[in-house]
Amino acid sequence: MPRPFATSRRGFLAISGGAVATAAVYGFSAAPAWAAPSFPQNPFTLGVASGDPTSGGVVLWTRLAPEPQAPDGMGGMPPYQVQVSWQVATDPDFRTVVKAGRETATPELAHSVHAEVDGLRPSADYWFRFRIGSEESPVGHTRTAPAAGSVPGRIAFGLASCQSWSGGRYAAYRTMAQEDLDLVVHVGDYTYEGRNHETLADFRNNHAKYKSSVDLQAAHARFPFVVTFDDHEIENNWADGVSQPDGEASNDPQRFLQLRANAFQAYYEHLPLRRPQRPTGPDMVLHRSLDYGNLAKFHVLDTRQYRSDQLTENFPGGPQHPDVYDPSRTLMGDEQEQWLFRGLASSSARWNVIAQQTMMAQYDYDPSETLSVNHDQWDGYVVSRNRLTNFIDQQAPANPVVLSGDWHSAFVNEVLLDHANPDSKVVATEFVGTSISSGCGWAQAIKNGLPANPHTSYINPDKRGWSRCTVTPNEFRSDYLVVPSAADTASPAVVDASFRVENGRAGAQRV
Ligand SMILES: [Fe+2]
Repeated sequence: MPRPFATSRRGFLAISGGAVATAAVYGFSAAPAWAAPSFPQNPFTLGVASGDPTSGGVVLWTRLAPEPQAPDGMGGMPPYQVQVSWQVATDPDFRTVVKAGRETATPELAHSVHAEVDGLRPSADYWFRFRIGSEESPVGHTRTAPAAGSVPGRIAFGLASCQSWSGGRYAAYRTMAQEDLDLVVHVGDYTYEGRNHETLADFRNNHAKYKSSVDLQAAHARFPFVVTFDDHEIENNWADGVSQPDGEASNDPQRFLQLRANAFQAYYEHLPLRRPQRPTGPDMVLHRSLDYGNLAKFHVLDTRQYRSDQLTENFPGGPQHPDVYDPSRTLMGDEQEQWLFRGLASSSARWNVIAQQTMMAQYDYDPSETLSVNHDQWDGYVVSRNRLTNFIDQQAPANPVVLSGDWHSAFVNEVLLDHANPDSKVVATEFVGTSISSGCGWAQAIKNGLPANPHTSYINPDKRGWSRCTVTPNEFRSDYLVVPSAADTASPAVVDASFRVENGRAGAQRV
């Protein structure tokens, strides 16, 4: 049994050594001092999480929601701000509490808590929990990143994406939570929008539904997550300010920007993100980088918010549109693209991990001479891909490894300098993770196309799961773990295939 929180403020201060952090107040200063409400049930129904580790800190997350599906999206909380205490310890029983503080949880942010903790040791395990009144949260575990400049012998992380609620929940997370990982990288489709989701309450309650999974909660309580969204957190195949509602001719930009603002806010409220990621209306800065010493640098991208609109909707592929070479088109937006180039150029990491959404390497669905590609992926933005591959070729950042999701199918790809020339050099390795639970109704089309894609060494569109990536100075290894049934949480994960990238040599070899 973990040691309970000290019950008095004096005791709490004594445990924390007097170092109570300054509470973050999010623009709601008029509220009265609020005694902790009494709850009909424990308000920590959505679990706890941590995220975006640095060598000295991490952000801790929870949200108070005694009634997580309250129709107004407020989780059954009163319309006041409340104070939530947190503790960080070096042991799961909280015998040695090294940090503690309080945060103000406001109704404006659905009583979510994002406590940014610093002053921790690098490469260290910590346990954390929250308290309000007499109610305590479950205990979470987290781990800080290695010290700046150090070269750790090994880090391991999970690659996750695409966790449709209807696809079965969540055998993959159950198996992941049994591993020893430094972090989990989630590259999008954390939630799937409902057909009529418009309001902030709609998006909040959708997140609360997903967070009711004990297996998703277990993974969040076990590892820090680094997350970026794809399309379904907002709306299928959205692009910048352009909505793509199924079969609807009308697309009111104002309506979509309001929907986007609602979706962004709910996303922030339900994930362990730091303050710079807090959205302002329909804008949210999600691209950022994280350093794991000099072993790995994670460049986390947002390829939805600044992209040019898709050229066609052909699915899963269609004839390549000539405008994929239009230099005015962009997938990342100019600012993010320049940020990525600067980050790659200045990186001193052995492995430059580009964590992003859709598949980067070309994939041709037509085994005949005709090129048939998906225009929602990098294939619809060839000019953007070529700018990146040319940059990598010329600047030679160490070992670029691309992580992708979106397509509900595992792939291992060589990213070529120019996919229009199959003989051009390999500039990066791409691991596309399979989905946690989302199905792949286009599996046969992927299989049919495989002979036309010699740069693709592995596909698996049939199974759900996640990838375990193990990074050492000498190699980047990816084990594709699949579960027999995405819905049967008793099913163990098995390794379907393993690949390794050698230091200094782009492209993966099967282990
Ligand atoms: Fe998806």
